[in-house]
Amino acid sequence: MNTNLTSSVPSQLETDCLAVVVLDRSEKARGEKDLPVLTVESSDKAVREAANEAIASGEVTGKPFETTLLHRPAGLKAKRLLLVGGGKAKTFSAAELRRLAGTAVRALKGKSIRSFAFALPEAGIAAPDGVCAIVEGAFVGNFDPGYYKSDRAEKNQKIDGVTILVQGDPKDLETALQAGRVVAESQNFARDLINEPSNRMTPTVMAERAKKMAAEVGLSCESYGADKIKELKMGAFWGVAQGSDEPPALIVLRYDPPGASDKVHLGLVGKGVTFDTGGISIKPADGMEKMKYDMAGAATMIGVMRAVALLKPKVKVTAIICATENMPSGKAQKPGDVQIAMSGKSIEIINTDAEGRLILADGLCYARQLGCTHLVDAATLTGAVVVALGYVNAGIFASTDEMYNRFANANQLAGEKMWRLPLDDEYKESIKSNIADIVNSGGRWGGAISAAMFLKEFAEDTPWVHLDIAGTAWMEENKPWIAKGPSGIALRSLVEFVKGWGA
Ligand code: BES
Ligand code: MN
Ligand code: ZN
Repeated sequence: MNTNLTSSVPSQLETDCLAVVVLDRSEKARGEKDLPVLTVESSDKAVREAANEAIASGEVTGKPFETTLLHRPAGLKAKRLLLVGGGKAKTFSAAELRRLAGTAVRALKGKSIRSFAFALPEAGIAAPDGVCAIVEGAFVGNFDPGYYKSDRAEKNQKIDGVTILVQGDPKDLETALQAGRVVAESQNFARDLINEPSNRMTPTVMAERAKKMAAEVGLSCESYGADKIKELKMGAFWGVAQGSDEPPALIVLRYDPPGASDKVHLGLVGKGVTFDTGGISIKPADGMEKMKYDMAGAATMIGVMRAVALLKPKVKVTAIICATENMPSGKAQKPGDVQIAMSGKSIEIINTDAEGRLILADGLCYARQLGCTHLVDAATLTGAVVVALGYVNAGIFASTDEMYNRFANANQLAGEKMWRLPLDDEYKESIKSNIADIVNSGGRWGGAISAAMFLKEFAEDTPWVHLDIAGTAWMEENKPWIAKGPSGIALRSLVEFVKGWGA
């Protein structure tokens, strides 16, 4: 998708469609009825007048994600005017704007419209932040997951170009636009990996895709197989991988810019289970097809490294991707087996379906061995996080408040929905074993927390954040701003997090 900036007078811009935001500026006083006071977010009188009739008719309510398409708007050079509802002006922010840009793209692309212009609303968002949000939202909205439909060539309509109408310093705006593009394209790169079915996204393919990307953006990338996993004594990772005929991959991506402090070395660890059958503790058939996205954490970290390589923050970052299938077979690990993790801790396998924490245990340990001073992992780790937070918020766990605050700040800038869950020592009771140091399943209650407590044993004293994205990595429904399918959640927050250390 081409992206352009213009400071042209909105009514004078020639475009197939001009999109403007409609906000509700009503402020209800006590006891008053809350009637909407709609404003078209443009300083151009002609644009406001062109929308007047539709607003006066009551057809436009300004509710979030409502779209109204007007043809041949009077007084405008644009062929169409798209009114995009943005909700209350009071709570309007860059996060809403990002979704509105995606909404405009999704509303227009099915109507044979190939390019359009989006006017930055005049609602208190700094112009560069607004440009970045619009670009990100537009790219995210343009993603279509129907990869293997045979009529895709005709049916997959995409927007080829978006022009952003905005006033401000052209250099600042251009920088914001390019940064938004990098992040959004990296998010879609991650979504592309997640969308592939497991027969086309094996650990080997994931390593190839990571290497290809690394070569394009100038990162170093190594990938190792079973021999290295065994040589490193990654008994927990291998315990999962041993059951599959598909070779596992340990992928390491390194970003080491000149001028970075040698005191900070970020380690990003991703769960890359390319298919999770549950292993011998096999999952029910119903919904098992979704377990192709059990590598979303890995794809996210690979995407983050792409963005980092292009945005060049001054901080050293290493990504460690543990990729494997989780299969039942004659070679598969069984409940009751004991595995010795790379750190030396012994693990009693209670449930072979709790495989993510096993591979991450060794991934976290390896990151520490490589010298990482701060760790973050992302994983579709537990069904329990979906019970706790539904499909709306991802779960955040942090070993220190300082790490949490840093991450929460990045998360706020990125506008992704996440919520912190606790890690009290009392939860450790649930992962005690009779025979070994620890069990790999803490049972039914507080399952997202006991999984995180398990990981904490391997992050040890290194400050660490864990993101459980099981409920948010895959959109269960189409939304106005994003298609059903892979979401790319956590990538933007993680990129902001890395940038925060480089500042
Ligand atoms: N990959 C699953 C978690 C998951 C669930 C991801 C739903 C996406 C959507 C994970 O490996 C798993 O199976 N977890 C088990 C753990 C249990 C056996 C302790 C779970 O959550 O049921
Ligand atoms: Mn599992
Ligand atoms: Zn899994």
